[in-house]
Amino acid sequence: MMSGEAIQPKPWLTTVLTLYPEMFPGPLGIALAERARERSIWSLDCVNIRQYAHDKHHSIDDEPYGGGPGMVMRPDVLAAAIDSSIAAGAHRPIIYLTPRGTPLTQSRVREIASGEGVTLICGRFEGVDERVLTSRDIEQLSIGDYVLSGGEIAALAVIDACVRLLPGVVGAAESLHEESFEQGLLEYPHYTRPRSFEGKDVPAVLLSGNHERIRSWRRAQAEKITRERRADLWVDAGAECANQRAK
Ligand code: ADE
Repeated sequence: MMSGEAIQPKPWLTTVLTLYPEMFPGPLGIALAERARERSIWSLDCVNIRQYAHDKHHSIDDEPYGGGPGMVMRPDVLAAAIDSSIAAGAHRPIIYLTPRGTPLTQSRVREIASGEGVTLICGRFEGVDERVLTSRDIEQLSIGDYVLSGGEIAALAVIDACVRLLPGVVGAAESLHEESFEQGLLEYPHYTRPRSFEGKDVPAVLLSGNHERIRSWRRAQAEKITRERRADLWVDAGAECANQRAK
């Protein structure tokens, strides 16, 4: 390397194990995420789980022991796919996307984004054989209390949430500090031109030029919205707000 040449950090490496590789990069192939991928800030390796099927029918699923509806993904096939991903980057969390998982939070997104990358397993059918989940160090995450037809859309959501936090992806880094969940609160409302829209005026405080008043109005709005919409978040955030005020 020439002296003075900048060292290019390794891209944040995502491996997606899926039966539908054609669903990727999907929406990650446009705008912010695509520009970041072109600049090698992150990379995407999409692996078709089917290529690890080894019997003559290339089967990847089978009927559930004990009976019941649907099919279950075979542990041997999925384990082979996971092991090849571990070989490609051992220090990355392996995440199985499932509505049975722990709810994904912005703080877990921050942790994942600060590492070397991630391996995401997308299930289909009724689910995957439980033994493969316990025989490897696999975290189970849900992106919300509803059921998708597979993990692919959830994987896209996880990658999108992480990629925008990687250094150099979002231009104005301060916009990341003010957004929802950063201080345990939902974000305050935004306004732009025109000053009057369908008889509704922009709140006068935002036109005042008084930055301290604007800051405290936004803070009060964020607290109100969090209290009204997300009682679960407000349990912690409200206590923290009361602490701040007491100082
Ligand atoms: N797969 C199906 N539904 C899901 C959800 N809500 N979260 C994560 N993965 C899923």
